[in-house]
Amino acid sequence: MSTILPHGGVLINRVAEGAERESLLAEAGNLKSININAWTISDLDLIGVGAFSPLTGFLNEEDYKSVVERMRLANGTVWSIPITLAVDEAKASELSIGDRVSLVGEEDGVTYGLIDVESIYNVDQKVEAVNVFKTDDLEHPGVQKLFSRPSTYVGGTITVLNRPKPERFEEYYFDPSETRRLFAEKGWRSVVGFQTRNPVHRAHEYIQKCAMEIVDALFLNPLVGETKSDDVPANVRMKSYVSLLENYYPEDRVFLGVFPAAMRYAGPREAIFHAMVRKNYGCTHFIVGRDHAGVGDYYGTYEAQDLLKSFPAEDLGITPLYFEHSFFCTKCGNMASSKTCPHDKEHHLTLSGTKVRAMLRDGVVPPPEFSRPEVAKILIEGMAEHYVL
Ligand code: ADX
Repeated sequence: MSTILPHGGVLINRVAEGAERESLLAEAGNLKSININAWTISDLDLIGVGAFSPLTGFLNEEDYKSVVERMRLANGTVWSIPITLAVDEAKASELSIGDRVSLVGEEDGVTYGLIDVESIYNVDQKVEAVNVFKTDDLEHPGVQKLFSRPSTYVGGTITVLNRPKPERFEEYYFDPSETRRLFAEKGWRSVVGFQTRNPVHRAHEYIQKCAMEIVDALFLNPLVGETKSDDVPANVRMKSYVSLLENYYPEDRVFLGVFPAAMRYAGPREAIFHAMVRKNYGCTHFIVGRDHAGVGDYYGTYEAQDLLKSFPAEDLGITPLYFEHSFFCTKCGNMASSKTCPHDKEHHLTLSGTKVRAMLRDGVVPPPEFSRPEVAKILIEGMAEHYVL
């Protein structure tokens, strides 16, 4: 069975194997090296396995400028988030165009890969921040992260030599080639992707299930890379997803697999990025609800939806499914949104993420109209453990 085309038409594979890998590893020992942190290791790996297709490496200067300015690679393909390799000035001065450089984990000394250097360039991070995050406010977690990196970037094609090992939940790690094969084997012609960095509460469940009414299956694809420190930790979330699926979802129509990327909190631009990546994993549809990938008040509730709508459908190649802010209405006695519920706000149960996190930390169970009891229990236990540590 044929599946949806990856973004750019071809699923990139830059993971070396067998004899090629052995010889590149031997070569790597004699090369100059760049130390990379967990975030960059995750970007490297996701490029290697094709999750970031059509990228074959960290952005070179031409693509970087084009992405920052117009949300497209230099060849016109839609791409909204710069995936870059930052080095300090001392390191940059050691490197030349044409060099092959090994990429070494700063904590463990593992050679994760190689880069063939095509371009070394300085950027104006303020311009990047304002274009990508719509702000240069250091309170914004994405902006903070950006400004904490050096402003010299190295672009070029990469090759992965060692894969980062998942610390936990290894059984939920699938590469795009695997999810594509598995979806096809299951006979699913349409699969809706769901990005989340939160526990799945009733509003999330509602929009997922609305989507499930019109497609063959749901790919629940929680982001488990780096998130800001007050988000619920990924290991706690994973337990809650497993329990939720066991209790409330049909087993043969849902697939749980993690997205091991870092969260950028870039709102509208990240929604585009999230959609393109899910296309690479084999999704035909992608859910975009309220304030997708947002943080604080930096983005309008439906700004991510509006940005996606501004691109021609054929340039996206995946169908976004848009959902209004959803809530439990005590008068309707069910989940709803302003599209389906005529009642006043006073009948709507909405809790902010911050409020819920505070409740969970205090061991207070959120109402079942907000969160399934099984989920609430796991979150309270998990948060208690997390905050004791
Ligand atoms: S995100 O940063 O990963 O987008 P979150 O995990 O909260 O955050 O959201 C996952 C998806 O659910 C996003 O598409 C978001 O827009 C959507 N969403 C979250 N809460 C609601 C809600 N109450 N109503 C409608 N959509 C929602």
